[in-house]
Amino acid sequence: MLNTITSLIIKPLHPHIGALVTGVDLTRPLSKVVFAQIRAAFNQFSVLVLRNQPINDEQQVEFSRRFNVLEKVSFSIAAQNPYVYHLSNADDRGHLLGPDAKKRVFLKVNSRWHTDSSFKPIPAMASILSGRKIPSHEPANTEFASMRVGYASLPPKRRKMLRGLTAIHHYGYSLGLFGDGGVPLSEINSLPPSQHPLVRVHPETGETSLFTSGHIESIVGMPVKEGRELATELIAWCTRQEYVYSHKWEQDDLVMWDNRCTLHRAASIPEREIRRVHRTTVMGEGPIEGPSYETTL
Ligand code: OGA
Ligand code: MN
Repeated sequence: MLNTITSLIIKPLHPHIGALVTGVDLTRPLSKVVFAQIRAAFNQFSVLVLRNQPINDEQQVEFSRRFNVLEKVSFSIAAQNPYVYHLSNADDRGHLLGPDAKKRVFLKVNSRWHTDSSFKPIPAMASILSGRKIPSHEPANTEFASMRVGYASLPPKRRKMLRGLTAIHHYGYSLGLFGDGGVPLSEINSLPPSQHPLVRVHPETGETSLFTSGHIESIVGMPVKEGRELATELIAWCTRQEYVYSHKWEQDDLVMWDNRCTLHRAASIPEREIRRVHRTTVMGEGPIEGPSYETTL
């Protein structure tokens, strides 16, 4: 009786963010009605966890495409399938990466709070991560925080000040903090900096949130150092401990998050056990709307 509207159960995981979805089997077809409920829960809770989903890449792509068009994987180094990013602490032959391996850089970039593809002109709507090989002993949680709650809990004066600001997001900057990851310069250069409002309106819920990310290189009209400090300060505000949902992975978990209003990071990188997760990235619906859009909703 899976995948029926009566089998579907959605239960919050945390007071501010995240819900557990049960009664769904992603290896089987999903009706429009059930999918619509999942989508509504996604917009409401910002992070959804579905346990026990032993899917393959094709099934992951099929489910992800129901939300919108998918982004192509940005770098050839990580593109076994053009739409599925294989993120792992092992190389292609399944050997753990050495301490100096270039591919480690991607794990390090992910361990700073960020939102996926914020450096693109149209940032991602959703990321869908499937736990294909999960360590049984070493911790490898993914942590999530809501930028909507972060915004709502700011003093009104501060909110007003932030509403006029524009941030510059640049993958070359966040990658460059750790090295080049073996990514050819031509590929890094194919992702020039993008500008987005620091406060945005969610296109589906109409709710206002911060839009900060570890990819912010500077803030328009501010000295670089001050801009980075502001981005860091806002991230720290959104990710105060009681606001964070920390997801402890189990084999075959599927976790999806709303990049339009959440921050996430890999909480630690396992050193002895292999961890491999596959990510599909659902494209955003268009350029980001700043708070002036609110009045027209
Ligand atoms: C990602 C990411 C975190 C993790 O896939 O975008 O940031 O815990 N992953 O693997
Ligand atoms: Mn990420």
